[in-house]
Amino acid sequence: MAGVLEGKAIVVTGAGSGIGRAIAIGCAAEGAKVVVADLGVSLAGEDPTSEVADAVVKEIGAAGGEAVAIADDVSTWSGGEHIVQTAVDRWGKIDGAVCVAGILRERMLFNMSEDEWDAVIRVHLKGHFTIFRHAAAIMRKQESGSLIGITSGAYAGSIAQANYSAAKGGIVSLTRSAAAGLHRYGVRANCIAPIARTRMSANVPQQIGEMGDPEDVAPMAEFLLSDASKDVTGQVYTVVAGRISVWNQPVEVRSIRKEGRWTPEEIASRFGEVGVEKMGLIERAEQYRQAAASGEKPNA
Ligand SMILES: NC(=O)c1ccc[n+]([C@@H]2O[C@H](COP(=O)([O-])OP(=O)(O)OC[C@H]3O[C@@H](n4cnc5c(N)ncnc54)[C@H](O)[C@@H]3O)[C@@H](O)[C@H]2O)c1
Repeated sequence: MAGVLEGKAIVVTGAGSGIGRAIAIGCAAEGAKVVVADLGVSLAGEDPTSEVADAVVKEIGAAGGEAVAIADDVSTWSGGEHIVQTAVDRWGKIDGAVCVAGILRERMLFNMSEDEWDAVIRVHLKGHFTIFRHAAAIMRKQESGSLIGITSGAYAGSIAQANYSAAKGGIVSLTRSAAAGLHRYGVRANCIAPIARTRMSANVPQQIGEMGDPEDVAPMAEFLLSDASKDVTGQVYTVVAGRISVWNQPVEVRSIRKEGRWTPEEIASRFGEVGVEKMGLIERAEQYRQAAASGEKPNA
């Protein structure tokens, strides 16, 4: 039986390990030809090796699939261009791109170095831009294509990962912008916020209640890359074990108005009408602090 991605050319970044590896192998099993792009770095983004991407290509080949390895850096303009061009040179097109490459440099905001900020923003956010940008130029001409960003629930805020949270929030905004700007050309863009057992999740400072495997995430990526989701764009989906949840679209919920400009005193007097929206993370911050003080990992 033909797979849901039969004949499609798909780029997967970060495809050498964890979630990216599961998506690359899953796409190949569904009939796609896959560019396995991975720089083969440590969790912090160091010590690159091409062996990591090569190993996944071998695995796909052994299972009867077709794939090509590329150990380029998604955080550079030329790296992104080269990765996308590899699919076009090999197979004459690019039907989908999944940006899974990522690193971690965790630190409280007040202790974070410039390098820790820059490295995480570069790999995650710029790493999406370089792939989306170069893929979009080709997909626009093809009048088809599916872009998938990998965000995280941490995009809604994070206590000890301000760099990672900011990058993941940027990825959601980039994806929504791609969806809006490319819709008229038949190109779609969506995000997955995965939770899965990998070297990255093993390191987070909180106890994650709900957990699955990278292979649980792959089918949702395959669905979003396939023609079965041709009307789905601009969405964010959490995927963990057997749960798939859609996030809401950010909208304003209440307003106050007057003719002309407000004074601070006027705002203070009527502020209750617009008020605040509950931020659960602030309530959880105290729990985190107490757990950390007693040497435990707090619940996420
Ligand atoms: N594991 C989880 O529970 C979880 C939760 C939320 C989000 N995510 C996101 O899922 C993605 C994959 O994470 P994972 O858990 O599989 O981690 P992982 O560390 O197993 O995989 C990340 C891969 O990205 C590659 N990479 C890093 N920098 C690169 C670069 N500059 N160019 C090319 N490749 C590069 C690494 O070599 C590695 O193979 C990340 O974006 C992560 O933020 C994971």
